[in-house]
This record gives sequence, C-alpha cells and structure tokens, in this order.
Amino acid sequence: MKRTLKILGYGLGTLISILIILLIVINAQDLPSYEVKTVEFQRSNSPEAIERGRKLTAMLCANCHMDRSTGKLTGQKMKDAPAEFGEIFSPNITQDKTYGIGDWTDGEIVYLLRTGIKRDGKYAPPYMAKLPLMADKDIDAIISFLRSDHRMVAAESKPDIPTKPSLLTKLLCKIAFKPFPMPEETIPMPDTTNSLELGKYLAHNLECFSCHSADFKSNNYLDPTQSAGYFGGGNEPLDMKGRVRPTANLTPDNETGIGNWTKGQFIKAVKFGLKEDEPALSYPMLPYTQLIDYEVGAIYDYLMTIPAIPNEVQRAIYD
Ligand code: HEC
Ligand code: HEC
Repeated sequence: MKRTLKILGYGLGTLISILIILLIVINAQDLPSYEVKTVEFQRSNSPEAIERGRKLTAMLCANCHMDRSTGKLTGQKMKDAPAEFGEIFSPNITQDKTYGIGDWTDGEIVYLLRTGIKRDGKYAPPYMAKLPLMADKDIDAIISFLRSDHRMVAAESKPDIPTKPSLLTKLLCKIAFKPFPMPEETIPMPDTTNSLELGKYLAHNLECFSCHSADFKSNNYLDPTQSAGYFGGGNEPLDMKGRVRPTANLTPDNETGIGNWTKGQFIKAVKFGLKEDEPALSYPMLPYTQLIDYEVGAIYDYLMTIPAIPNEVQRAIYD
C-alpha cells in the first residue's frame, strides 16, 4: 500500500514538474506563428468606398486604435482589456512607413483582417478584431479608407509600445484561439432591399452578436448563430475602469429581452444610447451614429426573428 502511494506520489510529482516546465517554456516563447499566404488585392479607392470605409472604421477599429486626444489611429493602451490578458497596446495603423502600416501591402492587411495572421506570421490574439464574414466590398471600403487622405489615417511617426501578452493569452492562442481560414470565394454584399438579410449581416459584422451573446469564449465567429446564448446577453465586457458592464438581452423575449420594444425605441438606443426613464447606455456600448435609421431598423427586424432566450440581465450603473 505504502509503496503504491509512494510510486503514485512520484508520478504526480513528475507530472507537475513537467507541467511547470511546459508553462515556463510557453511563457518564454512568442505568440504562435503561421504560414502567410500572398493575397492579391486591388482596392477600388472610389469616393463611395472611402466614405463607407470611414464609417466602418469608426465603428469597428477606432475604439481600439484611435488616440482620443488627437483623433488619429496611432494606437493606445487598451484599458478595457481584461488584466489576465497582459498589458495590451494597440499599434499605430496610420500610413507612416516606419511606425504605421504604410509599407504593408493591401493583400497583407486583407489577410490579417480575414485570418488574424500578421504579415510576419504572428497570430494577433482575440483582442484584435477579425472580419471572416464581411463582404469583399466592405473589406475594400476599409482598406480604401485606411489608404485615403483622411486625417485619421495620415502618416504619424509615433512608435508602437510593445504589448506584453500574459501566459494565459499565450496558452489560449496555442490551444483555443486559432486563425480563421482565408475565404476561398468572394463574399457578396447582402441584398440591402431585404431588411432581414441586411439586418443579419450588420448584426454579425458590426459585432453586435459578439458582445450580446453569453460569453466571448463561446462565440462562434464563423457561424455566429451557433454562439452560446446567441443575442441572449449576459456577456461581461469591461469599461475603461476595468469594471464589468453586462450586455443586454436583445432576443425577442417579452420579459427579459426587447420583445416589447418598438423599432423607434431600438433606433434611439442604438444610435444615441438613449433609453426612456433610465440613464443613457454606457461604454462599451457606443452610440452608432454612423448608421442610418433604415440599417438599425433592419437589425431590429432581424432580431425579432431569432429564438427568444429568457435571461434576465441587470444593468451595471456605476456613477
Ligand atoms: C478590440 C480592439 C481592436 C479592434 C476593434 C481592432 N484592433 Fe487592430 N489591433 C489591436 C491590437 C491590440 C493589435 C496588436 C495585436 C498584436 O499583439 O499583434 C492590433 C493590430 C492591428 C494591425 C497590425 C499592425 C501592426 O503593426 O502589427 C492592423 C493592421 C490592425 N490592427 C488593423 C485594424 C483594423 C483595420 C481594425 C478595424 C476593422 C482593427 N484593427 C480593429 C486591437 C484592435
Ligand atoms: C463592445 C460590446 C458591445 C457591442 C459591440 C455592442 N453592444 Fe450593445 N450593449 C453593450 C453593453 C455593455 C450594453 C449595456 C450598457 C449599459 O447597461 O449601460 C449594451 C446595450 C445595448 C442596448 C440596450 C438594450 C437594453 O435592454 O437596455 C441595445 C439596444 C444594444 N446594446 C444594441 C446593440 C447593437 C444593435 C449593436 C451592434 C450594432 C451593439 N449593441 C453592439 C455592449 C455592446
């Protein structure tokens, strides 16, 4: 008996030592690397594309990459990234050739936005947005804007502050988070005259589902409808002071979701953060002033067709 225990003890000791050594090795390594495929991409640079790209960039990129004191995409410390992920800084993505992305090819940017793989092969962790489902035309709009003469993206020689991903981030990037496949076929724009199709496209590509489902970890970015608690709320993003702001239930459940909301109330909340008899919506729910009423209305129409999930979420109101 004693002998068996001793052997077991040694076995366990060895196992723990191996695990510790493994963690030390992973911690000493960089984030995982992948093969970079060359992508040919011809951006359109049309005025319409640049204008649409400006809106998309304001909604999807600026919150992380913009220095609020200058309004330029020179990067910043991400105060709302969970501390367990490490100390995270977003890089300079202005057109500066040394410090920004001025010398990246359009194809390299597309490959990163689609897959999460940077041009040096390194994987950009989950705290950098990815757009695996976005229509090619909208990707073109974003790239055309990033290359435009708009002041947000004009070359600024501000060096990046290196990010320090934690052991947890490195571990997760080894096991759980993997790059998305590069789409093999072109992804068409939704039919904008079909409000359900447009609403679904926006609800997925503007990342509404990503915050408004159960948890970032159980989201399915390639098929958002398969995310745990799809649009049922309760996910816990942080605000700029690192405090939890639970997300609202946006399913058509009458008691706990938005089943009783009118389209007008929904548009007011999404575009301006306004709610009747309640304090305004707060960060990270930013007002989507770039969207037109028809687009927000389309999101509403789509949400009214998805399965209702009874899930009571209490708002966190701090100030
Ligand atoms: C939630 C925050 C967040 C959002 C949203 C976001 N990014 Fe990023 N981005 C980051 C971080 C952090 C990195 C650095 C990742 C790393 O460690 O490699 C990054 C890296 C990049 C890089 C690589 C730059 C370099 O020098 O390595 C590019 C290009 C980029 N982002 C463009 C965009 C665009 C375009 C959008 C909008 C479609 C966007 N990002 C949205 C946080 C974000
Ligand atoms: C970065 C995370 C995030 C994203 C992206 C996001 N939301 Fe929100 N949303 C929240 C949070 C957090 C709240 C709750 C804010 C509060 O309580 O002050 C909220 C609240 C709301 C509310 C109010 C609901 C209620 O019952 O009070 C609506 C409506 C809403 N979001 C719609 C949307 C739509 C539509 C999109 C996409 C266009 C979207 N959200 C994208 C985080 C997000």
